[in-house]
Amino acid sequence: MVRLRGEICIGMATFLSFTSVVLLIFAHVGQINTSTVPRGIAMMKVNMSNYGAALANAIGDPVQGLYTSNASAPTGQEAGLRQLYQFGLYSYCAYIDHSQGTCTNTSAAFQLQPFKAVLSDMPANYSGLTQGFVPDTLTLTNDHYLGEFSKAAYYLLLIGTICAFLAMVIGVPKRTLTYLISTLFAIFGTGLLFIGVVIWTVLIHKAETINKAQVSSSGAGAATLPLGIVVSVGSGLWLFWAAFVCLFLSVVPYLVSCCTYRG
Ligand SMILES: *[C@@H]1O[C@H](CO)[C@@H](O)[C@H](O)[C@H]1NC(C)=O
Ligand SMILES: *[C@@H]1O[C@H](CO)[C@@H](O)[C@H](O)[C@H]1NC(C)=O
Ligand SMILES: *[C@@H]1O[C@H](CO)[C@@H](O)[C@H](O)[C@H]1NC(C)=O
Repeated sequence: MVRLRGEICIGMATFLSFTSVVLLIFAHVGQINTSTVPRGIAMMKVNMSNYGAALANAIGDPVQGLYTSNASAPTGQEAGLRQLYQFGLYSYCAYIDHSQGTCTNTSAAFQLQPFKAVLSDMPANYSGLTQGFVPDTLTLTNDHYLGEFSKAAYYLLLIGTICAFLAMVIGVPKRTLTYLISTLFAIFGTGLLFIGVVIWTVLIHKAETINKAQVSSSGAGAATLPLGIVVSVGSGLWLFWAAFVCLFLSVVPYLVSCCTYRG
């Protein structure tokens, strides 16, 4: 009876850590391989589609040639602003509509630098205007802060992922010692995933303050309008949260298995 309960416990623990690992692999691979199906997987999205109108309102002149309609135009070369930017753990993608766009090369420890990304796509005269006109107190414009913290969070999420994988694999052989090691990896991985995902959540939450920013028009009527830059959470963040919860829940059955199993 005790033995059966032990089997059920380790089965539950393995199932939960396996689910966590699947979610984590999906989150990482979906952000590395940006050209195929899970194209929508990103940590943070920045919708720039109403920014041109806000800029025109602020300078009191029509804005022309700010956006590009060429989906394959290179990023970072003043080739024109895109409607939507999606930032992941390994690269970012810039879309001219809901499906067509181009992504940067992937690299590990890629830094979240959204303002740099959008400025580098604008024609030079507009990036100059933008720098003068978007308030630099907004977190979204603080590339150094976002870059450093997102890089640190990346390493935590990566090591947390490796711990989750090791907890799952090492817990398979039926030995008290392996259950103990699995428990430790599950606890350690849970902590790392938690800190990593909390950092990302805080960064996005702070960047979202730009959604409420207003600009006043320089023309007649002096109306204030939204800045037209809208930050939102990407599905990658939810995958990491879900993976964290699964790994966290696996800790209890791992702990019970290693404390009660006498193989
Ligand atoms: C779009 O951009 C690509 C890459 O720079 C270029 O090769 C292509 O000719 C452009 N297409 C149009 C219609 O301008
Ligand atoms: C960007 O935001 C605008 C206005 O809210 C919306 O109409 C548009 O569909 C969004 N674009 C994308 C690509 O999500
Ligand atoms: C991206 O990768 C391609 C192929 O490896 C390379 O030719 C290109 O120079 C890279 N672009 C950047 C901006 O590093």
